[in-house]
Amino acid sequence: MLRGSILVVDDELEIREGLEALLTSESFEVTLAETGQAGLQKLEDQPFDLMLLDVSLPDRNGLDMLREIRLRDPHLSIILITAYGSIDMARAAFKGGAQDYITKPWSNDELIAQISMAIEGRRLREENVHLKRALKQRYNFPNIVGKSEKMLAVLDLVTQVAPSRSTVLISGESGTGKEVIAKAIHAASTRTDKAFIPINTGSIPVDLLESQLFGHVKGAFTSAVASKKGLFEVADQGTIFFDEISTIGPETQAKLLRVIQEREFMRLGGTETIKVDVRILAASNEDLRKLVQSGRFREDLFHRLNVISIHLPPLRERKEDIPLLVVRFLEQFCKDNGKPPRSFTPTAMKLLMDYDWPGNIRELENAVERAVVLSTHESMDADLLPESVRTREIVRGVRLQLAEFLPPLPGEIGSRNSVPPPSLFEILEEVERRIIVDMLERTNWNQTEAAERFQIPLSTLNQKIKRLGIETRRRPGAPRGGPGIAYGEDTAEFSAGK
Ligand SMILES: Nc1ncnc2c1ncn2[C@@H]1O[C@H](COP(=O)(O)OP(=O)(O)OP(=O)(O)O)[C@@H](O)[C@H]1O
Ligand SMILES: [Mg+2]
Repeated sequence: MLRGSILVVDDELEIREGLEALLTSESFEVTLAETGQAGLQKLEDQPFDLMLLDVSLPDRNGLDMLREIRLRDPHLSIILITAYGSIDMARAAFKGGAQDYITKPWSNDELIAQISMAIEGRRLREENVHLKRALKQRYNFPNIVGKSEKMLAVLDLVTQVAPSRSTVLISGESGTGKEVIAKAIHAASTRTDKAFIPINTGSIPVDLLESQLFGHVKGAFTSAVASKKGLFEVADQGTIFFDEISTIGPETQAKLLRVIQEREFMRLGGTETIKVDVRILAASNEDLRKLVQSGRFREDLFHRLNVISIHLPPLRERKEDIPLLVVRFLEQFCKDNGKPPRSFTPTAMKLLMDYDWPGNIRELENAVERAVVLSTHESMDADLLPESVRTREIVRGVRLQLAEFLPPLPGEIGSRNSVPPPSLFEILEEVERRIIVDMLERTNWNQTEAAERFQIPLSTLNQKIKRLGIETRRRPGAPRGGPGIAYGEDTAEFSAGK
């Protein structure tokens, strides 16, 4: 199967022929051009997945050409071929919108890896467009992105339950998209052109909540100078979405139960019964079942709300959605900030995939927005990601700079360093060493306690300390009892690759 079409623009015959042989053998379709002008002409004639462009062409300056091509086709992947791959050159290339650059003479493996990554990035952007269309055809939820089994199951359920009037309880950690799903249910229901009223019960003071929900009559309380409709009346024929339902107090719970059962209520201080037709959706990031068990939430209300339950899995359980969400948010924030298209380098993307996202989609959204706002050129690297994403909690409290450990991939700045990158074994040793040293610091250099916390025999910890060369000088001022050890500052340095 063909892996993509590539346009090679280089004035040296030897290079053109070499690349043609290499790329053809790797199942790419290759087209050659000898001059900048000829290259531009080929681009007019047919679409390509990627362009390999020599910066020093006799008739055109490659960097100027880069800018010109970018204007015409913002999505074409371009890798620059340069003879003097300096950092300045790299900066100029990225700024001009190249995905990557490569220096003559290059390693074929490295070049193929770079090309594959660039084409993969483009494929992902296209997949997103395609998926958007497919999701739209199947579900018509333009604001929801996802291709994981778990997310598609949620959307199936949403489609099924939307047309009914049943109450739905949406559960899921913070930032998993509970409000997005509530809106989708409303939008796919017959009530779509009536009101959707979200109400965050947690953020409204207890004594205000009831008058907000049910309204009040004039004189019901001191500040009630006029009668007022409550949200239940406003939402008649539509949908009310109770966000953070677990926060409502016992009295409001009782009244809410009555509205759900009887579809009627009274304004505060009023005597007249008001009938409404309102669909109720509720969300909670706390486990309501547990609150029922501990007596903080009425069991009968729970069952009334929980007629249909939709659980939104945390993002870490559907990581295959991350690349699509990233592309979606990149598009959105580039547009919002008036910036040309941006993409993450493979290293940055890997960090985004590895991170556990305790704040789920909202946290991912914020990370992408931050990167876009701070970015100065097309390709965005790990340094634009928040500290929390770049570091990773391996043992509770021990954070490691993952980016610091990852050997640069071919094509990344740093990969052409003369120092060979550390091997996986060296990296793992360093990680192990840092965790042990960190634990020893926490236990005040008490090896017995550290071994206990690691749940390994003391003798095993001893062996590791020796093997990893952790210095075990007695720490000045360390409390007596237990073998006191210290390690020199110098051993904390990352020594692999030095
Ligand atoms: N499947 C999705 N596709 C695209 N964007 C999403 C998706 N799910 C959530 N989002 C976005 O993530 C953010 C958080 O979603 P939302 O507010 O619905 O989460 P939540 O579960 O209600 O969070 P909280 O518990 O903190 O109120 C929103 O900006 C939303 O647009
Ligand atoms: Mg919410």
